[in-house]
Amino acid sequence: MTAMPSSAQPGPAPVATGAAPDDIRAHLREDHERTLADADRLRVEQDSDRSAFLLRQLRRAWVIHALAEETVIYRALEAVDGRTEPHSDERFVEHELVEGLFEKLARLRPGTHEWRARLNVARYLIARHIENEHCDLFARLERCFDAEELAEMGRRFELAREKLSLLEEAKAA
Ligand SMILES: [Fe+2]
Repeated sequence: MTAMPSSAQPGPAPVATGAAPDDIRAHLREDHERTLADADRLRVEQDSDRSAFLLRQLRRAWVIHALAEETVIYRALEAVDGRTEPHSDERFVEHELVEGLFEKLARLRPGTHEWRARLNVARYLIARHIENEHCDLFARLERCFDAEELAEMGRRFELAREKLSLLEEAKAA
């Protein structure tokens, strides 16, 4: 089994040259970078209450990211070739595993050994997820869709995120 570097950073993502500002890849890149930065902020946080707050925020952002990505992007890709691609399945699993770790973390006292272990693994999985998507998913999107379709997908992704954010807010209220 390969070692799990707790500070693994995903490699530099390929730059989508000439991509429209609405291009789905730009939206995903932004969402991914924010998630990773939030996970890192949580890892260095020393205060318990602050940690619990940051975890709630990160967890909510992850749920929104995962659902928006699954409904808008994975489905669109599957519709193009009419098959479920194995990598898409891996991405679903990563979404689910990270959410499961967040759920466990929410029941732990921040700063304990178990808390740190689970948070490090969650961070590792998020980084792996991002790396795979930036290499593989982005190339596949480029192959399957033209610039206008990628921009349309970007707009639909943002709409889905907005709707899901409202739903999550309503749940939390
Ligand atoms: Fe993702």
